[in-house]
Amino acid sequence: MYNFKGRDIIDINDFSKEELLFILKTAKKFDPQYVKRDRSNYTIAQGKIAALLFFEPSTRTEQSFKSAAQKIGMGIIGFDDPEATSIHKGESFSDTVRIMNSYADVLVMRHPESGAAKKAADVADIPVINAGDGANQHPTQTMLDLYTIMKEAGHLDGITVALMGDLKYGRTVHALSLALSHFKVKQIFISHSTLSMPDEFLQILDQRKVIYEQFDHLPDNLQADFLYQTRVQKERFKDLNEYKKVKDKFILDASFKKYLDKGVKLMHPLPRINEVDPSLDSHPNAIYFSQARNGLYIREALLGLVLGRIDPPVARSS
Ligand code: NCD
Repeated sequence: MYNFKGRDIIDINDFSKEELLFILKTAKKFDPQYVKRDRSNYTIAQGKIAALLFFEPSTRTEQSFKSAAQKIGMGIIGFDDPEATSIHKGESFSDTVRIMNSYADVLVMRHPESGAAKKAADVADIPVINAGDGANQHPTQTMLDLYTIMKEAGHLDGITVALMGDLKYGRTVHALSLALSHFKVKQIFISHSTLSMPDEFLQILDQRKVIYEQFDHLPDNLQADFLYQTRVQKERFKDLNEYKKVKDKFILDASFKKYLDKGVKLMHPLPRINEVDPSLDSHPNAIYFSQARNGLYIREALLGLVLGRIDPPVARSS
């Protein structure tokens, strides 16, 4: 039996391929594309409280967790301006976590430091969901990315996914690359040489015998089913001059339409700054807004699972 109840969601590597597929399957239960509105979903987690601890700005992740929690009957508490809490008075991270832990049933945390979600999980005795820890990982974004790919392609095996932009500091591409490595997916990395995929992630891909290629430009004849564009993560640069040197290097302007016409589907975790031209938005293969909406279904599923309010499958004995 898979064990989701009480489980932390910190690192995408903590989830097996089968568990990831089960999460995607569970998300369908909340997606109007697959099921008619099911009123029983509204009470799945009635009486439970989600605490959202956002130490770093967010629109999609924070609001979709709030929406998902309420859609399955939960109440929500928390903050997105730590300066308006006792942290401003000097309260420690672990004390803040301990206190929120005592008022809630699940903690959802975003923090600028890599490893912060793990630190919170060490203090908390309720499930902690990592909503982004510095440049490290963003596992729930990855699950919604996988869900989007699965929904669009119908399967995960046998496809090619190109990841582009800030592969050094982008936590979304780190976790997505690791998750895709469970499947027969060819990965293509496209970035400025100073923003390439860090070795620690490439080493894991090597161990898992993943086929990947690296480019410092967008190839004219890109052979990919999906291109996952990302924002250069300005807030992670110690030297803003370095950011300025690279920020406009990997922009998809209106000429990218020819790739969309050829069938490449364009994803982006959002927010975008200038790296995807809005003229592309209306193309049916520009799928970043439906990608963001899919976050709702994945987060409803995850909250229900870690709270033990959705039954996991009984594993077949092998
Ligand atoms: C991403 C993040 O926070 O890492 N945003 C999101 O959660 N959808 C991507 C980004 O900020 O560039």
